[in-house]
Amino acid sequence: MTPTAVLWHDLECGGYAEDLPLWRELADAAGGPVLDVGAGTGRVALDLAARGHEVVALDADGELLQALAERAGNLPVETVRADARDFALGRRFALVLIPMQTIQLLGGPPGRAAFLRCSREHLAPGGLLAAALADALEGFDAEHDQPPLPDVREIDGTVYASRPVAVRETGDGVVIERIRETVDRAGRRAAEGDAIKLDRLDAATLGAEGAAAGLTALEPRAVPATDEYVGSTVVMLRG
Ligand SMILES: C[S@@+](CC[C@H](N)C(=O)[O-])C[C@H]1O[C@@H](n2cnc3c(N)ncnc32)[C@H](O)[C@@H]1O
Repeated sequence: MTPTAVLWHDLECGGYAEDLPLWRELADAAGGPVLDVGAGTGRVALDLAARGHEVVALDADGELLQALAERAGNLPVETVRADARDFALGRRFALVLIPMQTIQLLGGPPGRAAFLRCSREHLAPGGLLAAALADALEGFDAEHDQPPLPDVREIDGTVYASRPVAVRETGDGVVIERIRETVDRAGRRAAEGDAIKLDRLDAATLGAEGAAAGLTALEPRAVPATDEYVGSTVVMLRG
């Protein structure tokens, strides 16, 4: 049976595809192995591997990596369970990716400094680190004044729905609160809350932090917003 953490991760992250063209472009240009940091169940890692890129998928969550490895089959993907702030793989990569605002989950400036240090040590000469930042943390703004629709999926007769219900300012970031609900075949309902904290972070700040770690900031790239998703700015740091 699929672990619950995998179900919710797939539901909340798996449908996002707007950033894939950029990761594909960067992987094609890099022409060498790719390290996907915070790879989850492999939304990005599996997409790149299916296009022939050798990928190492790193995540702190063993259940998510297990699902990724099962889905990878014979694709050129290796999984590594490690913290993004403390890893030593003994090899270097042409491209290090940290998609979907994962860099805003690392516990503020000290966590990011540790991640940038590790990433720099794993970049091949001239390699690229690309980090996605959420453009809007305010949540329900003038254009998006209604709470977003829930992500919903039915698996084996149980309906899973995850709905963002609040975005709370904390000063150095925001806490995004969701309600996760299930309704099983017999109509039994269950609900629980989930919250994640995203650090406030802009491209200039991350560029300066990258420079302090010995990387060179290039012009950032953009992933446009859609009706469903906020846009991202992708900070590009050359090793
Ligand atoms: C928003 S999800 C993104 C998943 C995937 N990269 C994608 O784009 O669909 C964030 C992922 O980062 C992982 N993560 C969070 N903090 C981490 C840390 N300190 N070290 C390694 N992985 C971490 C989580 O387990 C989760 O899989």
